[in-house]
Amino acid sequence: MISKPNSTVAVDARKVTKRFGELVALNELSLAVDSGQCVGLLGPNGAGKSTFIGCLYGSVERSEGDLRVFGFDPAREARRIKERIGVVPQENALDEELTVRENMRLYARFQGVKDPFRRIEELLEHMSLSHKRHAQIRSLSGGMKRRLTFVRALLSDPELLILDEPTTGLDPTVRHLLWDKVLSYRQVGKTVLVTTHYMHEAELLCDRVIILNHGVQVAVGSPKELIEKETPGFVGIFEADQKSTLKIHLDSNWHCFMQGRQYCVRAPQIEHLIALQAASGVMAIQMRPANLEDVYLKLTGEELGENE
Ligand SMILES: Nc1ncnc2c1ncn2[C@@H]1O[C@H](COP(=O)(O)OP(=O)(O)O)[C@@H](O)[C@H]1O
Ligand SMILES: [Mg+2]
Repeated sequence: MISKPNSTVAVDARKVTKRFGELVALNELSLAVDSGQCVGLLGPNGAGKSTFIGCLYGSVERSEGDLRVFGFDPAREARRIKERIGVVPQENALDEELTVRENMRLYARFQGVKDPFRRIEELLEHMSLSHKRHAQIRSLSGGMKRRLTFVRALLSDPELLILDEPTTGLDPTVRHLLWDKVLSYRQVGKTVLVTTHYMHEAELLCDRVIILNHGVQVAVGSPKELIEKETPGFVGIFEADQKSTLKIHLDSNWHCFMQGRQYCVRAPQIEHLIALQAASGVMAIQMRPANLEDVYLKLTGEELGENE
């Protein structure tokens, strides 16, 4: 049902800038998405993720720079691009008055989908929505609407799937279902560009992630590479009120930071944390390997530093 793409080029952005009046939403952003890869675009609210996505299919007009999607320029050839991409936008934008099937038939017609009735039924089945085919959109749950937005994005069997915060606000069951689907698209060689605030999602899905802050790329690499480069080691999480007791026993090379009401210590080896517990008599709430969230918090400046 989901066929293999044959293109070798996906997205090539060179020094793309977008200004909204005085505001610079994208600042000379250069990035590439190779065909068959799943690339994650991460960054705080307002970092420019949705703006970049809009630039990819011409819904946002870039101010400067060169941008190609499958070799086409979205400013001039958006139609050629739209034929080959499927977009799950940040907002579902489904027609609340129509039924599930009417909605999908309308989009299938826009997109010139071949054998649309069969395709719609297949995809509703794929997203476990067949039983809702006659339901009005407004009667669906948030998770169902999101799954239907995936159905819409997949109607034309696109080579490139663009997912803008696909699982924000969804319950864990739907989130796992959607992850499973995205992983299966990756397996058949589809290209995926996904924005997310969930670092676990990015680690699970993405071959490569790009971290944006204020429209500028601050890091790029595989999740594993970024963790090894930026925040290697193990993190011990302690109650904040134990900070002064712990501080006496800390090595000056370890990295310490507050996360909400918790005091975190990152050391090269887990044995260091175990020794810290023994020396201080303070037990950690949790010990874990460093993860992409640690990298994100460090690079986007949202981590509250203690020793830097
Ligand atoms: N149409 C618009 N007009 C003016 N400012 C905009 C518009 N769209 C986005 N912005 C601004 O551009 C910046 C980037 O927004 P956006 O791309 O939506 O960020 P993200 O998706 O990373 O949260 C924000 O400061 C936002 O307020
Ligand atoms: Mg956005």
